[in-house]
Amino acid sequence: MSVILAIESSCDETSVAICNNGKITANVIANQTIHQNYGGVIPELASRVHQQNIVPVIQQALGDAKVSKKELNAVAFTQGPGLLGSLLVGVSFAKSFALALDLPLISVNHMHAHILAHFIDDPKPKFPFICLTVSGGHTQIVVVRSHFDMEIVGETLDDAAGEAFDKTAKILSLPYPGGPLIDKYAAGGNPLAYKFGEPQIKDLNYSFSGFKTSILYFIRNQEKENPNFISENLNDICASVQHSIVHILLNKLKKAAKQYGIKEIAIAGGVSANSGLRAGLTALAEELNWNVYIPAFQYCTDNAAMIAIAGHFKYLNRDFVEQDVAPLSRMEF
Ligand code: KG4
Ligand code: ZN
Repeated sequence: MSVILAIESSCDETSVAICNNGKITANVIANQTIHQNYGGVIPELASRVHQQNIVPVIQQALGDAKVSKKELNAVAFTQGPGLLGSLLVGVSFAKSFALALDLPLISVNHMHAHILAHFIDDPKPKFPFICLTVSGGHTQIVVVRSHFDMEIVGETLDDAAGEAFDKTAKILSLPYPGGPLIDKYAAGGNPLAYKFGEPQIKDLNYSFSGFKTSILYFIRNQEKENPNFISENLNDICASVQHSIVHILLNKLKKAAKQYGIKEIAIAGGVSANSGLRAGLTALAEELNWNVYIPAFQYCTDNAAMIAIAGHFKYLNRDFVEQDVAPLSRMEF
């Protein structure tokens, strides 16, 4: 029997979940809308809002799961990677909470947890599988051999896929975070209206910084001819940008699947909520006979349920950390 309380605070979501014997019984997420006023996450503000949110979010999660503090067996938390000030709030709270209740502490790597979110619901991927993890800070192709035997075989050399979405949105004057808005406007547009080149990067790696610059120049050139270019063509621009990013992401995923001879394929992270990526992966599954695993929307973007399920597996291994544990903004994978 294990009842684990898990805390996620690596960026701008304060989230607490409860995992009861491998089943998620609460997953409370407090989003920080304040950053929309600034066009991006302001680290100093994020940690202050985590500080305000953490106690009510803990209380709500315990209430939703109908468990008392006395019934908990362990406290899991995101140790990194992420914003240091944000992580500090979650890590410090987890340590104090565990100390007060005399519970073991479980450290979780946020990037492992995005992948392990696939073990919350059925169907679960079979080992070994390949996971494309695409978030606001990371783009990684990972070969997953067991719950904690994971190897990065490709990654971005500069910007993450989520940044490519968010920075394009900024160029189009859409509010932060722009990824979901590009997805929304793309639905009504022609994905082949404009063409953006695919970066020629070696092996299984990605690069998105040149891609973002090419969009910037394209928009500037078009606006010289027509100052209303963006507003008149927003759907087509978003559909074309999304189509290009998805194409780049899936091409390397195809290459990885072939190279490793693996047909169990998963996606994870915030960008796995993107409808173009989800549809593109489903189409590839048919074409290449893959079994694909696409997370439920609530487990794509940051959430503590994924920390709780990772905590559950670590609890089974009695993999605990001591009270001297500290947050790591650049935690090793
Ligand atoms: O995993 P996540 O919540 O946080 C990090 O760990 O970074 O990912 C956030 C990223 C943001 O860049 C956001 O714009 C992007 O995921 N995102 C999307 C969509 N939903 C979230 N990008 C494209 N389409 C979406 N529907
Ligand atoms: Zn994340």
